[in-house]
Amino acid sequence: MGKEKFKEAIYPYDEWKIREESFDIETNYRDETIFALGNGYIGMRGNFEEGYAGPKNTSLQGTYLNGFYESEPIIYGEEAYGYAQNSQTMLNVTDSKIIKLYLGDEEFSMFAGELLNYERTLDMKEGVLTRELTWQSPAGKKVAIKIKRIVCLTNKHLAAISYEVRPLNFSGEVTLVSALDGAVTNQVNEDDPRVGSDFQGQVLNLVDKEQKGNFAALTQKTNNTEFELVCGMENQLETESDFRLQTDQPEQMVRANYIVEAREEETINLTKYITYYTSRDYSADRLLPNAKDTLKTAKEEGFNKLLTTQKEYLAEFWQQAQVEIEGDKALQQGIRFNEYHLLQSVGKDGKTNIAAKGVTGEGYEGHYFWDTEIYSFPFFLYTKPEISKKLLEYRYNILDDARQRARTMSHDKGALFPWRTIAGEECSAYYPAGTAQYHINADVIYSLKRYMEATDDTEFMLNYGAEMLFETARVWADLGDYIPGKDNQFCINDVTGPDEYTAIVNNNCYTNYMAQMNLEYAYQIATWIKEKHPDVYRELKKQIELKEDEVTNWKEAADKMYIPYDEERKIHAQDDSFLDKAVWDFKNTPQENYPLLLNYHPLVIYRHQVLKQADTVLVSFLLGDKFDLEQKKRDFDYYEPLTTHDSSLSSCIYGIMAAEIGYHDKAYNFFMETARMDLDNYHDNSQHGVHTAAMAGTWLGLVNGFAGMRIYEGELSFDPYLPEKWDSYKFNVNFKGRRLEVEVTSGEVTYNLASGEELEFYHQDKLVSLEQGQKISCDLDGE
Ligand code: BGC
Repeated sequence: MGKEKFKEAIYPYDEWKIREESFDIETNYRDETIFALGNGYIGMRGNFEEGYAGPKNTSLQGTYLNGFYESEPIIYGEEAYGYAQNSQTMLNVTDSKIIKLYLGDEEFSMFAGELLNYERTLDMKEGVLTRELTWQSPAGKKVAIKIKRIVCLTNKHLAAISYEVRPLNFSGEVTLVSALDGAVTNQVNEDDPRVGSDFQGQVLNLVDKEQKGNFAALTQKTNNTEFELVCGMENQLETESDFRLQTDQPEQMVRANYIVEAREEETINLTKYITYYTSRDYSADRLLPNAKDTLKTAKEEGFNKLLTTQKEYLAEFWQQAQVEIEGDKALQQGIRFNEYHLLQSVGKDGKTNIAAKGVTGEGYEGHYFWDTEIYSFPFFLYTKPEISKKLLEYRYNILDDARQRARTMSHDKGALFPWRTIAGEECSAYYPAGTAQYHINADVIYSLKRYMEATDDTEFMLNYGAEMLFETARVWADLGDYIPGKDNQFCINDVTGPDEYTAIVNNNCYTNYMAQMNLEYAYQIATWIKEKHPDVYRELKKQIELKEDEVTNWKEAADKMYIPYDEERKIHAQDDSFLDKAVWDFKNTPQENYPLLLNYHPLVIYRHQVLKQADTVLVSFLLGDKFDLEQKKRDFDYYEPLTTHDSSLSSCIYGIMAAEIGYHDKAYNFFMETARMDLDNYHDNSQHGVHTAAMAGTWLGLVNGFAGMRIYEGELSFDPYLPEKWDSYKFNVNFKGRRLEVEVTSGEVTYNLASGEELEFYHQDKLVSLEQGQKISCDLDGE
């Protein structure tokens, strides 16, 4: 339901590159997101070094640090007890991208003079953004400019720009101005609740400036959180010509002005090394010294070394995460782009996570949601498991906030993870589609369970996992009740499931199933630790004051969990009341009224059978062994026509289930919608940042969808097929320290155990066992 299908490809097809061949004001805002660079910490939008002179709302100058935020009291018109108290908004930080160019008195700008040629390329193999252009000034001077920018994937504090300029038809004064600008603000609220902050003006204030020769730094501090930030730069000019350096410090800036007596056809190269350090990671007195050290080392190594290191890191990443599709270049490009942006977005330090928009824009304020656990996490788990561990560590690190939140929500024990947050505090101001989504607790545990199956990391479970598991189980135990009217089954009332077009309902099917999994797993792990690691169990029990009867209560609640089901239709009911509502009038809803959330009061939406995103169908994927195929099909058939996919988290899940059910055309179409969502701006909002969950959803669509990968009771299995339009596809899965390569061609699939000890798994119903280096081919029809 809802949207028109498929858009024209915006960027020319190229497997490893995203390229634009012209500069367009109308698409600039979106292009800044597409060409954004990041390393999971620093994020730089694809803004131009010289600045931007275009009309309002065609650009967002942005640089972000994952997890660096300002907080303000949330102002409610009418407040009630327990509402989220404070916002946390990822800040637009010191602008370090600035390099201005002057030919004599004329300032280079793509809005003046004439752009004789232009090309911008994001190279996903090299990890570099390059802009090459030839510009003629209004007075007729011509220059060739080549700018390379990298944000280093192996050093979260480092970025660099190499700026080359070559006069083509003149000799004379050329000035390059490299600056840091502390006068930065976040976007304010637009009409879209998904975008913008409530800040009134600048909240990151200038504290200090330091400048000496090629080095300069700004120290800034946030108003309320009182976090300190140091942004430093070290410039290096290479030229055969004479030059002099003048420094100045206007307003909130530091500037290094390189004035060169340039000669025709001789290249001038300015390299700018950039670093960010904040008091979220180090004590305030370490920030400047650390910044200086990082810049010194970077300069000693040189830009080319940074490029080589970047390329080497990416070579390894692509080896692990490589997906190849033969027969559809557009998709190949889309998938690579998505994987690349996931890598650029994900925090890898255990203190940060992956925001809904990564570090590419201000949509959703840089918040982390359940998107991480249900969408991005599996991508990392099966390609770079060390990153997935960091994502779980992040949850552990905010466990105390989650405990506090549980108390606010009147649970005497346990922990309730925030629906959206940066540092751990619940920041969701609209509780019906926020705090009410208790399923976040089970989502975290679902990823923990997946992690354990795929890594056997017992240490993690004993030191961190069990505590999260028990604390989340406690909240479910406290939240639910045995309701006489429901046969004394365990019911969970007044929660919101994943579908945000239905809120505050009793017994949301997804939530109840997932809570059941959470409770069951808690019981199982408690029993296991008690038996195998009694000392750890004793310690943990003492630490969290766990009583033995709590553990048996978890088991009982899980066993007696109420699952809403409609006997007449033989489908799962999304919740107790969903099926008693009128179906949304899709026929008379004009295209421009989507997404519905921007055009109807929530109550109007809640009153109807209409879904923003996969809900029951999602749980039939996540806990697929609890549903038989016919059941999955009936649930899909019922809910799919009611789903608008107004959330970008939806299509990929419907795609995966369509593949399992055998609706191959549908599976393909859903996959296509997800695979190039940002590249083709399918939701018309990529300007606010990439959609990280959907990006990961593409990988899931291929691996869990077309290749039918599942892990039930710890056993890995595949049931692949080849979409008609493709010649073949190939991907890797990391499972229990092994790397399995899977290649699906017409008629057969080849499994190759590229590394690691013997691995057993299922191809359809057939048990396959491979030694390292061994390959096996199986027929797709099961022979
Ligand atoms: C979706 C949520 C999601 C959030 C952030 C919303 O539109 O409904 O499920 O967590 O976006 O991506």
